[in-house]
Amino acid sequence: SDQKKILLLPGDGIGPEVVAEARRVLEALQGGDFNIEFSEGLIGGCAVDAHGTPLPDATLEKARAADAVLMGAVGGPKWDTLDRPLRPERGLLRIRAALDLYANLRPVLCFDELAEASTLKPEIVRGLDILIVRELTGGIYFGEPRGVVEEGGQRVGINTERYSESEIERICRSAFEYARVRDRRVCSVDKANVLESSQLWRDTAERVARDYPDCALSHMYVDNAAMQLVRGPGQFDVLVTSNLFGDILSDIGAQLTGSIGMLPSASLNRQGQGLYEPVHGSAPDIAGQGKANPLATILSAAMMLRYSLGRGDLADRVEAAVKRVLANGLRTGDIAGPGEAVLSTAQMSAAVVAALH
Ligand code: NAD
Ligand code: IPM
Ligand code: MN
Repeated sequence: SDQKKILLLPGDGIGPEVVAEARRVLEALQGGDFNIEFSEGLIGGCAVDAHGTPLPDATLEKARAADAVLMGAVGGPKWDTLDRPLRPERGLLRIRAALDLYANLRPVLCFDELAEASTLKPEIVRGLDILIVRELTGGIYFGEPRGVVEEGGQRVGINTERYSESEIERICRSAFEYARVRDRRVCSVDKANVLESSQLWRDTAERVARDYPDCALSHMYVDNAAMQLVRGPGQFDVLVTSNLFGDILSDIGAQLTGSIGMLPSASLNRQGQGLYEPVHGSAPDIAGQGKANPLATILSAAMMLRYSLGRGDLADRVEAAVKRVLANGLRTGDIAGPGEAVLSTAQMSAAVVAALH
């Protein structure tokens, strides 16, 4: 039978709360020709507590054996003083690298129903549909040398931005491939006026673009891109950028959609295997209170259905249900207006399940 193996990695903070709700939505889709076998694994702070490492080998093995991985979030104040290799965040970086998940897709989509929830004017964000394609396994996150060293009687902190041509080429190809099924416009974001690695990025993007004559390539410096995202985000179709720039720009993108609690992501390798997770973190400030918005994780599960499980039809159903729920005025605290009723995490996912057609 066609039973799909899904590994759930709830993680820390609100991670377990939002992953449990996404699971309920996936379970509601089961039946007929669609069946899921769920397993669970540890990553992040909870894995440090249980096994002394943020990414146990067992978790990596389960991830390799799964058809797809759905993650919550990692990290929290409890682990912020640990040595760097033991930090929860390092577990996430290691699983991304180990599975070669170099293409991180972050669709910045503003549901019309939420245009009023954004801190930007509704006419600026209404209809917004951008795809951020973030390089995820290179750049300053992984470059050597790194560390804190003694130099001239003081400590010096070092990190290295580093990109090979092949790393740039493959992420740019991904961006153009996605542009082809969208509006065929790619904006490559860099800092080529200052950084050599960005110059190589820009040159490589130009070279890749020659293979996609049906698409338009433009370039923008990252400082300007940050400003343009807030000034007139409607000008963008696909944005392709480095690991660090993509991290920062996607949080700006999140706020354009109303809340970081709305933004899903997919991290894919060449084989189309994927790890799916909300863009937000473990939100220690609201963890354990049933306040978290589960929609980013539910929408990440929809991306999983589409990109790793070959079930675009089910992804469409989940996304349509989310739209209905928002159209009915149902809101968690992060997207509620003043005086509007606020749903708990579990009430929100129950509403999505009830809205599945
Ligand atoms: P965060 O995204 O966790 O929280 C930022 C703000 O957004 C907080 O006020 C939080 O309450 C709110 N928020 C986030 N998700 C929400 C949701 N689903 N519903 C409602 N509100 C939500 O970022 P942070 O505070 O900078 O980081 C907290 C911890 O999470 C840190 O340890 C950080 O390293 C980690 N982190 C992990 C990931 C990940 O696992 N992918 C991503 C980002 C941050
Ligand atoms: C994200 C997060 C991670 C990143 C951290 C937690 C390592 O901020 O997924 O956006 O910087 O990639
Ligand atoms: Mn981030």
